[in-house]
Amino acid sequence: MGRIGVAILGATGTVGQEFIKLLLNHPWFEIRALTASPASAGKPYHKVARWHLEMDIPEELRDMTVLPTDPQALKEEEPEVSLVFSALPSEIAKEAEPKFAEAGYVVCSNASAYRMHEDIPLVIPEVNPDHLKLIEVQRKKRGWSGAIVTNPNCTTIVLVLSLKPLVDEFGVRRLFVSTMQAISGAGYEGLPSMAMIDNVIPFIEREEEKVETETLKILGKLVGESVVPASIGVSASCNRVHVLHGHTETVFVELEKEASPEEVAEVMDRFTGEPQRLELPTAPKKPIHVRPEANRPQPRFDRDAEGGMAVVVGRIRKDPILENGIKYVVTGHNLIRGAAGASVLNAELMVAHEYL
Ligand SMILES: NC(=O)c1ccc[n+]([C@@H]2O[C@H](COP(=O)([O-])OP(=O)(O)OC[C@H]3O[C@@H](n4cnc5c(N)ncnc54)[C@H](OP(=O)(O)O)[C@@H]3O)[C@@H](O)[C@H]2O)c1
Repeated sequence: MGRIGVAILGATGTVGQEFIKLLLNHPWFEIRALTASPASAGKPYHKVARWHLEMDIPEELRDMTVLPTDPQALKEEEPEVSLVFSALPSEIAKEAEPKFAEAGYVVCSNASAYRMHEDIPLVIPEVNPDHLKLIEVQRKKRGWSGAIVTNPNCTTIVLVLSLKPLVDEFGVRRLFVSTMQAISGAGYEGLPSMAMIDNVIPFIEREEEKVETETLKILGKLVGESVVPASIGVSASCNRVHVLHGHTETVFVELEKEASPEEVAEVMDRFTGEPQRLELPTAPKKPIHVRPEANRPQPRFDRDAEGGMAVVVGRIRKDPILENGIKYVVTGHNLIRGAAGASVLNAELMVAHEYL
């Protein structure tokens, strides 16, 4: 097949740049347009991107004129684009994404604006690929020829990916998670260095609510035209720490059935899902890497596992106070598996399911 023309909305930002990196030599998708705020529109990309990647801005994109984030402008400039990846701030996404869906674009979004809407799929391809069927509900209800498909918040993805084999194999009654989240999770202008250096900030706005609600939607069951949330107790405590990339989470799980740390390690290690069966281009070979060392995972060493698309679990041990309790530590790249890579994998899954 010819490559599908794509645009990146919010291409100048932290996640937007990760999209560029992942899509640059993609076998199915080809970057045809970049959009950003009105302040950046009309200017060459390299003049307005706050470039943070260690590679240079790709030569073919340096002088590309940034478009306004508007479906009409995109149609006029690049009529071949049918898929857009959204790295827009949530309040901007709320307005813009439905306009793109209405204009016939498939929107794969990182923003939180529509994640919890009943007819919008919130998908991790290894966990709930069947939820893509909500696209049909959404199209019927909203009259869109396009669609919005979302991926979860970065912290939620890392957690739920590690949790899925435990849910399937032993059942999960409730869990507690405490996070150590990277600075890049707040975007380029998110946190001043004066706030972060030599510090931990024990509050991230709306993060705990996102982890607690999104987890239940993703692990929920699609029944008819909506998702019945999983009945698992989830309690999250979220912290920002002085790490550039990579969220680390300590997880305490009460299982339905007793399992030893060795059994938990084994089911995590052999876990695969639909992206691996379909051999999607961005899918990691193993979504979960289990490390035996006493002092892993660590963000600096583990966030780039399989190009940042796998999460790394370690320190699996018995929890002494929970019934059938297990505790472990998990690390994942917040900008790749937790953001741009998650959207790209969703888009690949949509191609495989012939939604694109
Ligand atoms: N960072 C993470 O780890 C992470 C993880 C998962 C999800 N997300 C989500 O991904 C989205 C992007 O996050 P980020 O960290 O990349 O943010 P960011 O670095 O602040 O980038 C924001 C992008 O949105 C554009 N933008 C701002 N105002 C706009 C407007 N009025 N109209 C059109 N475009 C506008 C900016 O363009 P200008 O350069 O022109 O201002 C920039 O390209 C957010 O919804 C965030 O919650 C982030």
